[in-house]
Amino acid sequence: MSDASAPIGMFDSGVGGLAALIETHRLLPGEDITYIADSAWFPYGSRPPTEILDRATTITRLLVERGAKLIVVACNTATSAAVADLRERFDVPFVGTEPALKPAAQRTLAGRVALLVTPQTARGQKLAALIDRFGSEVDVRTIPAPDLAERVEAGELDAAGTRALVRSYVAAVRDCGADVLALGCTHYAFLRPMIEEEAGEGIVVIEPSAAVARQVVRVLDARRLHASRSSGGRVLYLTSGDATSFAAVRARLVVAGADVPAGADEPWTVTEEKGRARSAP
Ligand code: DGL
Repeated sequence: MSDASAPIGMFDSGVGGLAALIETHRLLPGEDITYIADSAWFPYGSRPPTEILDRATTITRLLVERGAKLIVVACNTATSAAVADLRERFDVPFVGTEPALKPAAQRTLAGRVALLVTPQTARGQKLAALIDRFGSEVDVRTIPAPDLAERVEAGELDAAGTRALVRSYVAAVRDCGADVLALGCTHYAFLRPMIEEEAGEGIVVIEPSAAVARQVVRVLDARRLHASRSSGGRVLYLTSGDATSFAAVRARLVVAGADVPAGADEPWTVTEEKGRARSAP
């Protein structure tokens, strides 16, 4: 039985899920949040689904051991590859992250929506099902964006190379005739200003972090799991990768204008996994 004073758990392959953390902390400033960046295994987007499921299971177990009352899979790629399985295996509520296709379908005047996703999300069955569900009245074009999440993870938010990549993906959006671009990877949220600049006024950009946070509120409401405090929630950061780089990129996101909450960094103690990650692609 979950305890309302327990933390909300969240994870992503790296810093991308901080977009959902920011929104959740904004809506629920009294909640403690434990965020795990599985940075030693980044990027999920070029790994096979079985490996992502494996990682998502390991990270979920860590969060459950820490008493998490709800787990946010703050990653489209992990949601696609793992959330159905996690829901079966663990007795804790999950909130997943999916591209905001429903609002995108409502916004398009052209009848065509583009979806920017990691290569692995592009291949996943979950995306195909989502497109079937919400895309029946609009034409949905999936645009895989290799290397883009990698730029964000490296903190290269403003670099010329990042802009060149963004420009090429936005050109693909324009070429396919879409007037709405849904961001289907949490890392891309931090490139939203650049994407909007490159897209210009003819393309509306949407992303789901705020919707994820609203869903967290709904699930806590339904289960009566809200913390009693209304402010002062503590945020704890852990990473399977290099803690100094993780903190440095968080600081860079703050400089770029993101409202990443201050929090405590806790060391990662699950040492054997780092060895495996090094030998992985
Ligand atoms: N942030 C992850 C997502 O939302 C992807 C980044 C990665 O490739 O690991 O899909």
